[in-house]
Amino acid sequence: MTFSTSTLDFSILPYTEGVTIPVTKPNPTFLSDIGEEGMRDLLDRFYMGLFTSPIKDIFPPSEKSMKIAGQYSADFFIQICGGTAYFSQNRGAPQMRKRHAPFHITPHARLHWLVTFEEALQPIVEQKLSTQANIQSFWNYLNTFSQWMINNRD
Ligand code: HEM
Repeated sequence: MTFSTSTLDFSILPYTEGVTIPVTKPNPTFLSDIGEEGMRDLLDRFYMGLFTSPIKDIFPPSEKSMKIAGQYSADFFIQICGGTAYFSQNRGAPQMRKRHAPFHITPHARLHWLVTFEEALQPIVEQKLSTQANIQSFWNYLNTFSQWMINNRD
């Protein structure tokens, strides 16, 4: 008999309109565990997942443009995990809420966004490329900060 020893919790916090919940940045050791290339691979998997997801229509329309978008996003996640400030260097101040304002982001879109991210994280979990504590801190960041991006009720 085998027992799972995973303590990872990928549950999604319910969205409450009008409440700005506190956000803690991911552990920088998540980035040191997987490395910049690991982060770039993660965001590539995520954007390729978004490309075929139910929320694909709010994202760039071609695979090529999604690959590019995924790498800008990787720049951001490397930076937020305490690595080189590629995003600020290439795109300016993150101002994520402002950058998301042109897109129609609903609580429902957030759920698909998070589920797609969870799928992209699975190789890191399965191959134990990072510790459970670091993966959890990365997930907690996504889970909370994604609520800030919601700008439409439905
Ligand atoms: C709530 C769910 C979210 C949805 C539906 C969403 C959707 C989008 C869309 C449509 C874009 C524009 C296309 C693109 O460049 O990728 C975008 C850009 C981006 N998003 Fe999100 N987003 C969400 C949450 C987040 C969160 C929580 C973060 C960071 C933790 C984030 C980081 C980014 C970054 C870095 C960009 C690129 C901005 C740029 O290059 O100017 N997004 N997002």
